[in-house]
Amino acid sequence: MPKTLYIETVGCQMNMLDSELVVASLRRQGYELVDSPKQAGTILFNTCSVREHAEEKIYSALGRLKHAKRYNPDKVIGVLGCMAQNHQKTVFERAPYVDLVVGPGQLHQVPQLIEEVRAGSGRQLEVSLERQGGSRDKVADSFESFDPLRSPEMRPSPYQAFVRIQIGCDKFCTYCIVPKVRGPEQGRSPREIIAEAEQLANEGCREITLLGQTVNSYSYTDGGKTTRLSDLLYQLSDIDGLDRLKFVTSYPRDMTDDLLEAVRTLPKASHYLHVPAQSGSDEILTRMKRGYTVGEYREMMARIRQTIPDAAVTSDFIVGFCGETDEDFQKTVDLVREGRFKNSFIFKYSERPGTKGAERMADDVPEAVKKQRNNELLAIQNAICEEDNETRIGCQFEVLVEGLSKSATKQGQDDAPQVQLTGRDNWDRIVVFQGNRRLIGRLVQVTIYDANAHTLFGEVVTDHVGPELYSLSS
Ligand code: 5AD
Ligand code: SF4
Repeated sequence: MPKTLYIETVGCQMNMLDSELVVASLRRQGYELVDSPKQAGTILFNTCSVREHAEEKIYSALGRLKHAKRYNPDKVIGVLGCMAQNHQKTVFERAPYVDLVVGPGQLHQVPQLIEEVRAGSGRQLEVSLERQGGSRDKVADSFESFDPLRSPEMRPSPYQAFVRIQIGCDKFCTYCIVPKVRGPEQGRSPREIIAEAEQLANEGCREITLLGQTVNSYSYTDGGKTTRLSDLLYQLSDIDGLDRLKFVTSYPRDMTDDLLEAVRTLPKASHYLHVPAQSGSDEILTRMKRGYTVGEYREMMARIRQTIPDAAVTSDFIVGFCGETDEDFQKTVDLVREGRFKNSFIFKYSERPGTKGAERMADDVPEAVKKQRNNELLAIQNAICEEDNETRIGCQFEVLVEGLSKSATKQGQDDAPQVQLTGRDNWDRIVVFQGNRRLIGRLVQVTIYDANAHTLFGEVVTDHVGPELYSLSS
């Protein structure tokens, strides 16, 4: 009987990478990926705890599996990642037919734990220590980074890869569950990072996105020598075959001049920076314990614009945080208008038990007000996105072609020679255009003829690609 696996992933890029690595480790054990939980012998959920909604969706999905498990008791059901660390035994209490609860610091154990369930050892719970559960070193050691050797055929795209450079977070923003569920901040050794990047480049990967919760706080000291993110970028730039380097997510206070200078000078560094502001009001930022004032955020934006005038900056905002007044919200609106972000992710505050926000402050902004503020901010940001994208019409950009566009995939254009392709420019903007599928994984020049808030539409500039690609009819 073939071993079949279905995995559902929610949350951030870190979770996408974790799922890729778990799937790779299970495929090495002979598992085959299937498209639906029905067909699968093993069903895994890689979860997110950043907002309550994300957790409740997982409980609903688990609820739908109750009967499947009753009719087929051999199915193994597992909850992985942040919610596993956050809820631990509660997952078994709310969904007694779950076999496996594995935190983000124990993912390397997943194949072994599934085996144990199958061998009849009963439910398996593997999580890290709580932040107060021992010395810093002991707690840090209990969160093991999971970065086994990569295999190219296991990645969603052979041309792009996430590379983890840091795990955990020590900033403790009062609304955020991440420091609890992902543990202390720990940098990965530059040697391992470079070796992984070299391997990826050898296998044909052209773009690497470095991952960390506060990626620009990255620091690794060994033998008296400290490596910062800027140092890593210089070293990674020397790797032949890699064309693009990105990093997410940056913390405003650590957006240092050496890093901006590296992005400015290195041709492979994307001019794209994700630096969440969270709010435009000093009162709210203080309550969030973000560690900067709006003035300091503005000053950082000015430095970015001065060093990298064409930088595309994106941000996150939380609306309806504890005590947020209309005046506070208006200040966030002002910052969004002034920041002219390439994009902003806007969230309604969701109280997370276990955070300082939940312990010390009342979640006192009514849901209707949160919703209204969310919609208002989104509309303002969307108008900015549309205006800015329209200014690109007529311009030519280098695009790394990622694959078929969403609509081409939906229409099942899998066999057509000319297909609608999607890729990104050097500012992380999505560009959709018609072209030969052989362009996937290449850098091509595209001229933009239309745009909406989130997508640029273009056509390939034939001269730059070489005739061999266009003489192909298949
Ligand atoms: N409620 C709403 N949004 C949150 N975020 C983090 N914690 C919460 C919360 N409790 C948002 C922040 C962060 C993004 C990943 O999620 O904006 O930058
Ligand atoms: Fe959460 Fe703040 Fe750490 Fe970001 S910096 S992961 S928002 S605690």
